[in-house]
Amino acid sequence: MATRKPMMAGNWKMHKNAAEAVDLVRAIGNDLDGSTAVEVVVCPPFTALKSVGVTLEYDKYEIKLGAQNVFWEDEGAYTGEISPLMLKQLDVEYVIVGHSERRQFFGETNDTVNKRLHAALGHGLKPILCVGENLEERESGRTTDVVAAQIKGGLAGIDGDFSESLVIAYEPIWAIGTGRVAKPEDANEVIRHIREVVGSLNGAETAQKVRILYGGRVKPGNVSRLMEEPEIDGALVGGASLSAEDFVSLIKY
Ligand code: 13P
Repeated sequence: MATRKPMMAGNWKMHKNAAEAVDLVRAIGNDLDGSTAVEVVVCPPFTALKSVGVTLEYDKYEIKLGAQNVFWEDEGAYTGEISPLMLKQLDVEYVIVGHSERRQFFGETNDTVNKRLHAALGHGLKPILCVGENLEERESGRTTDVVAAQIKGGLAGIDGDFSESLVIAYEPIWAIGTGRVAKPEDANEVIRHIREVVGSLNGAETAQKVRILYGGRVKPGNVSRLMEEPEIDGALVGGASLSAEDFVSLIKY
């Protein structure tokens, strides 16, 4: 079986100005003492990417830089959008694509997610593709169908072994920023299903090698239990990634 390097990715969402972001990444980096057993990624808002990137480079922290979204065109009259080239110029390595908040509040669909994935991969950015069902879909027993459709739609036309260049995150919407946490064994089951879908599209080897994270209320108190599950390769963390102490304790689970 493939060994997959665990990943802890912090999605800072719309928090932290540039100066606060630098303070946070320094506090995380100084606490990490060079441990590389886990791949660590932080995804600040666009306005803090430059200053966080410079800090990471200067202080040589083992932390990768990620963005929270990317547009699919290189340049043009697209007011308010950020292109993959612009992210590359800031030494961004990862980019979150299709987060449920983008799907819910900004009209993101599997089709636009797919365009963003193609553009990101085409420019050597590594997408973190987010999928997950809402409460109504879960309660009506449609979780696996919804997630499979998001994976198939998102990955359409992305051929070959993408396991080194793309990460998937399963984030049940009803567990994001709420008091509800998915049971680790349930999250594991959905992730197993996602791996099967990836296998049917891109082959069993890709499916075994690609990392699939869990996201939704991951905290220092539940991380080790989640990470015991064989299919869960790490976490995409919102709230707890805004505290250096909490995020470092997640990394050292
Ligand atoms: P919380 O960890 O705050 O629930 O957020 C999860 C998330 O949306 C990460 O992308």
